[in-house]
This record gives sequence, C-alpha cells and structure tokens, in this order.
Amino acid sequence: MGSPAEVCSLEHYLELPDHILEDRLLTAKQALGREVVILGHHYQRDEVIRFADFRGDSYKLSKEAGKAAGRYIVFCGVHFMAESADILSRPGQITVLPDLNAGCSMADMAEITQVEECWEQLVRAGMTSEEGVGITPITYINSTAAIKAFVGERGGVVCTSANAAAAIKWGLAKNSKLLFVPDQHLGRNTGFALGIPLQEMVVWDPYIINGGLTTDRLCSAKVILWKGHCSVHQRFLPEHVDNVRAKYPGIRVIVHPECRWEVSQKADAVGSTEGLLRMIRQAPPGTSFAVGTEIHLVNRMRREFAAEDKRVITLDDYCGCLCSTMFRISPQHLCWALENLAEGHVVNQIKVKDDVKHWARVALDRMLEIQ
Ligand code: 13P
Ligand code: SF4
Repeated sequence: MGSPAEVCSLEHYLELPDHILEDRLLTAKQALGREVVILGHHYQRDEVIRFADFRGDSYKLSKEAGKAAGRYIVFCGVHFMAESADILSRPGQITVLPDLNAGCSMADMAEITQVEECWEQLVRAGMTSEEGVGITPITYINSTAAIKAFVGERGGVVCTSANAAAAIKWGLAKNSKLLFVPDQHLGRNTGFALGIPLQEMVVWDPYIINGGLTTDRLCSAKVILWKGHCSVHQRFLPEHVDNVRAKYPGIRVIVHPECRWEVSQKADAVGSTEGLLRMIRQAPPGTSFAVGTEIHLVNRMRREFAAEDKRVITLDDYCGCLCSTMFRISPQHLCWALENLAEGHVVNQIKVKDDVKHWARVALDRMLEIQ
C-alpha cells in the first residue's frame, strides 16, 4: 500500500486498470478485517459485488446495516441506501459511499419542500391533521432521509419493494387514506394487488398547483400516489412481455414492482430483487425466466443459474435497462475507499444530521417491524 498522500488521491485510482485492483482490494479488506462490513446491492457490477460481505435488496441490506458489528460500513449501492445504513447504524459507526455521485433519479423526484407543500394542502382540505390523523404517509426507501423523517413524525412508515404490501395494510389499518411517495408504480401495483381499484388511486404532480387534482377527486381517493418513477424500469413495456412469450412459449415472466402497471399485469409474478432471485432459486430445473429488472442482476442470474439448468434472460434485449448511478461504484472507487480506511482516512462519509436521524429512524424501525 502506498504512502498516506498517495492513498488519498481519487484521480490516481481512476487511472488504475481493473486487473490490478483485485489483489489490492483483497489486501485492503484483509487489513481492515472485522473493522469493515461491505454491503452490496444486487445491481452492483460483478467486479464490485464480489467483495461484498452481504448482498441483498434494500430491505435485507437495511437489516444487515442495523446488525453490522464493524466500525465502518462501506455501502456499494446508491445514496439513499447509505443514508439508511447511517440512520440504522450504532453511534460511532461510520458509513461510506465509495462514489458520492451514486444517487437515484427516482429519489430526486421528491424534494422535502414539495412533500411539505403537498401535506399542507391535504391538511387545508381537511383530509388529515398535521400529525397524520386522517392520512398515513408512506415513503419508499428510495427517498431522502428528510422525507423519511417527515413521514416518521406523522405516524407513517418507510417501505421497500419487499414489504410494500405489508406497509400499505399497516397504513390503512391506521387511517382510511394513504399518501405514497415517490414511486407511483410501486404504490399502484401494490395497492391494486391488495384490491384497491385504480379509480381510487390518484396521482399528485408536485409541479402543478394542488397536485393537478380537484378537491373532490382528492377527497374521494384512497391512495394519493406521488408522480415519481424509476426511469430504468420504465423502459420495460407491455409489448416486451408479449414478444418474449411468443418467442419462448412457456417462459415465466417476472418483474420488479417499479415497472409500470401494464407490465406487471402481464407478468406471472412481481417481486423485489431478492424476491426475483428467490423465485428462480425455488423453481424446478428446466424452468425459463424473462426478468424485468436491472441488467447486471439479470446477467449474473443467467450465469449462476445455468448450472441448475435454469434459463434466465432479460425481458427485453434492446431497452438497455442499466442503472447508471449504481454503475458509478467502480472497483477503483471501492479500492480508494478501502485503502483510505486502512490508512485511517475516512473518505465519502454519509452522515445524516441528528435532528433528521431521530424521526427517520422511527420510520425505518417501523419498516423493519412489518414484513
Ligand atoms: P430492491 O429493494 O428490490 O433491491 O430495489 C431497489 C431499487 O432501487 C430497485 O430499483
Ligand atoms: Fe433508483 Fe431506478 Fe436505479 Fe433503483 S434502478 S436505484 S430506483 S434509478
């Protein structure tokens, strides 16, 4: 390992070719030993996720963050995941995101000031009290810590794609109405699967006065969905399901709930990334799957399940379903982060402010209690 001065420069690392990083990553990880826990989301590239101590979806990784024993949690994923890990970690633990540019375009579609404005309008319309008597606010984990805190303070909960159904049931047991932020598709797909008709779910557009809804429409709705989406999963279209079924008769189509409603309706099953993996793991040999989610996970499943005589293909070859922000975590960034930690330098720490942390933790703890 180089001198501390060399270790600190990211530019130097970005010039290093992948093939020399493997040994350095292993050496840095060994040097840190139990001091570090590396968490890797399923969408990470192979050359990064192979160094993860735990892989999983947002739900599983939140649980691991809460249990992590080491001094450092290095999160190979995106910003909201590292923020959640920091909120759930013990005092004194340090969470690191190897590239601070690894954000999530869906999380960027809801700003705290917009959510506050929306809530104010719902209060003014007499639909809820400021404290949340009338409407339960639910935020998908793909959101800022400030929104998680907002929801926590108003009796609401964070959900992930793995427990959205349980969160909606929980929210409707408290109040007859929900505000679901920021993924309209996860909210709509899950609400519909629970028997809520489409007409009872309205979309709040934060860029239009009053969300673009009349007070009557708002008051008659059971679920108010935020107008947000994942641009990666929107690329899957209903015709992709028709095409793949025509080409491979008998193939099972499984998709992530961030896909649009028309796609999820045509699919055989819908699940979080961990859920999709489980469906393939539990299928008998000889089963074929077309999977509607991020391409790095699909390609990894294709390779890993080939040995069990299971065929895994992407739902569509041409839509380029790659999460460019997940992709930002490169082996170079990971090596830079780990070697710096091994030298005693903390780089790219994700630190949620204490006042935000309290209520965000309340909302995340509720999430971990409901499955
Ligand atoms: P999962 O929690 O299902 O892994 O989803 C996270 C995500 O951002 C999917 O786009
Ligand atoms: Fe965000 Fe979509 Fe990427 Fe998931 S796949 S991290 S929702 S942009």
